[in-house]
Amino acid sequence: MSHEAESVSQSNQQASGKTQPQVCTIWQLTQHTSQPEQLAEAGAVLAQGGIVAFPTETVYGLGADAGNTSAVEAVFAAKGRPADNPLIVHISQNHQLDELVQRVLPLERQLMDAFWPGPLTLVMPVMEDVLSPRVTAGLRTVGVRMPDHPVALALITASGKPLAAPSANRSGRPSPTTAAHVADDLADRIDGIVDGGDAGVGVESTVIQVKENGTVFILRPGGITREQLLTIATDVKLDPGLAGVSAEIAPLAPGMKYTHYAPRGNMSIVIGHSPAHVGAWMQQQLLAAQQRGEQVGVLTFDEDTTDYGSALRLSLGSAEQTEQAASRLYGSLRTFDDHNITYILAQGCSESGVGLAVMNRLSKAAGGQIITVD
Ligand code: TXA
Ligand code: MG
Repeated sequence: MSHEAESVSQSNQQASGKTQPQVCTIWQLTQHTSQPEQLAEAGAVLAQGGIVAFPTETVYGLGADAGNTSAVEAVFAAKGRPADNPLIVHISQNHQLDELVQRVLPLERQLMDAFWPGPLTLVMPVMEDVLSPRVTAGLRTVGVRMPDHPVALALITASGKPLAAPSANRSGRPSPTTAAHVADDLADRIDGIVDGGDAGVGVESTVIQVKENGTVFILRPGGITREQLLTIATDVKLDPGLAGVSAEIAPLAPGMKYTHYAPRGNMSIVIGHSPAHVGAWMQQQLLAAQQRGEQVGVLTFDEDTTDYGSALRLSLGSAEQTEQAASRLYGSLRTFDDHNITYILAQGCSESGVGLAVMNRLSKAAGGQIITVD
């Protein structure tokens, strides 16, 4: 371990009399790629089959050598992730793609040229016998992306491997946007964390599948918006399986069927034409919940002037700025947990731009409970 690396465990302090949990290494990178020894060290841990969390432009990922089955199994075990949910493979150079997939369609190439490095994952036919079968969860396709983050790119290159990396949270918890979030969930379960500061976008990559006829299906909305995809592709459709409980077919991305991203409290989304009515209704419900003995919280926007009394009030910023809402979303859900909030009402937002991803994650966090107030 280098002298700059430190070891932490969140539960060390609590533990008198209990077994001390295993601790993980933290590589602190303040100026990104300016610390090559740190990255070389973390890269070597990955190359030897270790599992290391690292920042990307979306959320923190938990990386493993995508060709090493025991490393990939360690990722599933650390997260408590269902084995039928495949992992995204992260690359740092274009040529790595040719070894992972059977073919690249011209439209896929155009989309990569436009949005890589960046928060776009393409699901393509997987090359046989290159990746651990655990990465693809038995599917004949693999999701690949090139993250737009200097630390992620440098770490992938340092490891010399394509890295399978799901978000670095315990399964079902909100995705981590800081190294501290990762440590809260996983410090005693993984080999290390590369701390490169806050992740930027705040919600995960957009996962797409391009059909031979040129139709682009959005399997998971994310950092690259539908509007951006439409600058390159003419036919962009949302996977009908994303319609939640009302959908009669399973989503194409296995991960989208799980209740995800959820705070521990019971959360509902509230939407309606009149922000004043929505505010008044939420105020009343929060008060009633408080009287039942709930610890109450409200997730709202700066424009909302309703007085929510002693409820824990968190704002995602201006309702007009969905990028800001995306970057604050998961941290806010974790803050509710930190305050042991048991009942949460969240105001819905516009579904344009990255707002589509924000509403998708909010609705998953709320287990599909959406209330319309008119
Ligand atoms: O921004 C991101 O994508 C982050 C960072 C770390 O890169 N990663 C991430 O991974 O969100 P994860 O595992 O939390 O979500 C991956 C999603 C899941 O919904 C999974 O079902 C879907 O992508 N997926 C992966 N491979 C797939 C495949 N071959 N076919 C369909 N869906 C796939
Ligand atoms: Mg995830």
